[in-house]
Amino acid sequence: MKKLLTILTGVMLIGSSASAGVWETNCAGCHNGVLAPEKEKLLKKYETSSEFISAARKAVKEGKMPRGLGIRRAASELYGKSSIGKKALRETADSSKDPYAKYKKFFTPLPALPPIPADNPLTPEKVKLGKMLYYDPRLSRSKVISCNTCHNLALGGDDNVKSSIGHEWKTGGRNAPTTLNAGFLRVQFWDGRAPTLEEQAKGPLQAHVEMNSTPEIVVRRLKAIPEYVELFKKAFPNDPDPVNFTNVVKAIAAFERTLTTPNSPFQRYLLGDESALTKEQKEGMKLFVKYGCTACHNGPVLSDGQFHKFKWNKDLGRYKVTKKASDKYMFRTAQLLNVGVTAPYFHDGSVNSLEEAVKIMAEKELGKKLIDSEAKKIADFLRSMTGEVPLQARVLPQLPGNNPE
Ligand code: HEC
Ligand code: HEC
Ligand code: HEC
Repeated sequence: MKKLLTILTGVMLIGSSASAGVWETNCAGCHNGVLAPEKEKLLKKYETSSEFISAARKAVKEGKMPRGLGIRRAASELYGKSSIGKKALRETADSSKDPYAKYKKFFTPLPALPPIPADNPLTPEKVKLGKMLYYDPRLSRSKVISCNTCHNLALGGDDNVKSSIGHEWKTGGRNAPTTLNAGFLRVQFWDGRAPTLEEQAKGPLQAHVEMNSTPEIVVRRLKAIPEYVELFKKAFPNDPDPVNFTNVVKAIAAFERTLTTPNSPFQRYLLGDESALTKEQKEGMKLFVKYGCTACHNGPVLSDGQFHKFKWNKDLGRYKVTKKASDKYMFRTAQLLNVGVTAPYFHDGSVNSLEEAVKIMAEKELGKKLIDSEAKKIADFLRSMTGEVPLQARVLPQLPGNNPE
């Protein structure tokens, strides 16, 4: 039933008209009155869509909004009277010339933001603080390891090594998945042991093979830095004692929810730009659908968030969390956005080539043997999913230098 619903939403999003839902998909997540002015306010402020478009372009130029969101189509959708917008619409609405367009319905465009939990709303102050904490190595016992050490935002949101290296050169045996778009995952970690980004962040801060810290160390060090105390007050204005571990992970999670990657060729293709994918990549998309990869790799980040059997090495996966025999070797479906820049692959990082990973998946999950040219086309299709990391997340924050401890 859930699968059917996902497919139906996919069809509705793309099927009804080329521009349907551009605002909802690409803009509404930020323009909810928290991060940026809401729709009604924008419409009132800009009488014509051309003014709206230049204002939006300015916001993109200033790095406040990601590029490639489909601003013209959003404007034509909102105003319904722009001649520029109508032309753009005509250009993209008729997709019948593209014989591959029918495969689009198996995919879902990436929304601007993942779902925001009611108990941790996004505010610019919290996102700013979360970004600083994400980059601050002083949260780790050694003061040299930050989230960004293993989830490097200049490197696809991971560390590009087989198994992450943490405190005192220890490794935990598992490959670091990317933090990019992680907010869209239904559960966190390869074995799904954390339900939310907030719960997830408590893990690495304390894990002895990662940052090897404790909530006490983290809070004590932050409280000793007056600039941080001020920033926590601003981010959590209703909390009488805002520098606490819960707020640390809330701020980090809020920042992580802004790590979405729009504007990949694949996203542009889904939103109507038929020239965004090469013929080879479109062939790869067709094979991806035809062989049934979409049975598990579906939704906005190409993961159903469910657990599937992948018997690959001694790692028992989900079983370690539930101790149920039926969960042996079960792993959560990996997301695939940006998979072109997050080698090596699989939970143990044992495979370097994306082509090889695709072949292994086809054989182990679908019982199909791919020939080299098919694996290459699918891998090329997956490489079209590499998007843009938001500029505001990539610019290094200036951390308070004060370090009394
Ligand atoms: C990642 C968050 C984000 C997304 C996604 C986003 N915006 Fe924005 N937008 C902002 C921010 C932040 C500003 C700047 C607000 C300010 O300066 O007060 C802004 C400003 C604007 C402005 C100018 C507002 C003004 O008051 O001058 C327009 C118009 C606009 N956005 C339209 C859009 C449209 C259309 C989309 C979708 C196609 C979109 N935005 C998607 C965050 C976003
Ligand atoms: C020493 C390297 C290391 C550090 C430091 C580290 N991580 Fe990770 N991270 C990993 C590894 C390895 C995994 C996968 C572990 C597993 O699934 O068992 C992971 C998993 C994750 C995931 C889950 C993504 C998914 O696809 O399920 C998120 C989100 C994440 N880390 C965020 C963070 C944050 C936030 C911090 C800082 C507080 C952090 N990590 C610090 C190595 C690291
Ligand atoms: C039955 C569900 C299922 C099907 C079908 C499936 N996958 Fe996967 N996929 C998974 C799971 C689960 C993982 C995580 C494996 C692990 O634990 O390393 C994964 C991982 C991957 C990865 C590695 C991602 C990374 O970051 O390490 C790639 C690439 C991939 N799949 C591509 C495909 C392709 C291409 C197909 C179709 C030929 C496919 N998958 C079919 C469930 C599936």
